[in-house]
Amino acid sequence: MRIGILGSGGGSNMQAILDAVEDGSLDAEIVLVLSDIPDAFILERAKKAGIPTDVIDCRGFKSKFPPEAQIETIDALKAAKVELVCLAGFMRLIRQPLLEAFPDRILNIHPSLLPAYPGFEAWRQAVDDGASESGCTVHLVDSGVDTGPILIQAKVPVLPDDTPDTLHARIQKEEHRIYPEAIRQVMAN
Ligand code: GAR
Repeated sequence: MRIGILGSGGGSNMQAILDAVEDGSLDAEIVLVLSDIPDAFILERAKKAGIPTDVIDCRGFKSKFPPEAQIETIDALKAAKVELVCLAGFMRLIRQPLLEAFPDRILNIHPSLLPAYPGFEAWRQAVDDGASESGCTVHLVDSGVDTGPILIQAKVPVLPDDTPDTLHARIQKEEHRIYPEAIRQVMAN
C-alpha cells in the first residue's frame, strides 16, 4: 500500500506509521509527505527518513483549503501513485475535489472519542467539559467535520489533575498505536 501523508504539525503520527513500516508490522510504504506549513516538523522528520516532501501552497488562506491547492495536492499524490491518504494532524478541512479523487481512501486521526468533541483542540474541549474519559478515533474522511465512518477508537481516562497538555500526551500514545492498526484494517478489506 502506497501511503501519502498530509500534516500540519509535529508529525508524531507520521512517525508512528513509519515505525510500523520499518519494523515490518505494516506492509506499506510512505511515498510522500505534504504539509501546508512550510516549517512544520513533520517535513523534517520525513526528510530525515528519506521520504519525498512538498509544501501545499494554500494561497495565504489561514484555514481554508482552496480548490487550486487541492488540485495541486491531488496531482502530487497521483504522481507518487498514492493509494491511501492519511491525514496526520492536518488542520484544514478536506472537501471536493480531493475527496472524490480518493473515494473511501482518506483516513483521519482525531484526538477524541468521536462524535464527542469534533473540531479544534479536542483534548482541551474534553478538559474544559469536565469529561472523565476521552480518547482518539481513526475514521474515513467525508465532507463533514470529523464525521466519517469510524474504523477504530481507543479510550483514555481524563484524570482530575489533567491539563490539556497532559491529556493530549496520553491520547497521543494511543493514537500512535491505533493509526497503524487502522491502516492494516483498511488493507485487509
Ligand atoms: C494529533 O493529536 C491529532 O489527533 C490531531 O493533531 C495532532 C497531531 O499530532 N488532529 C486533529 O486535531 C485533527 N482535527 P502529530 O503532528 O504529532 O501527529
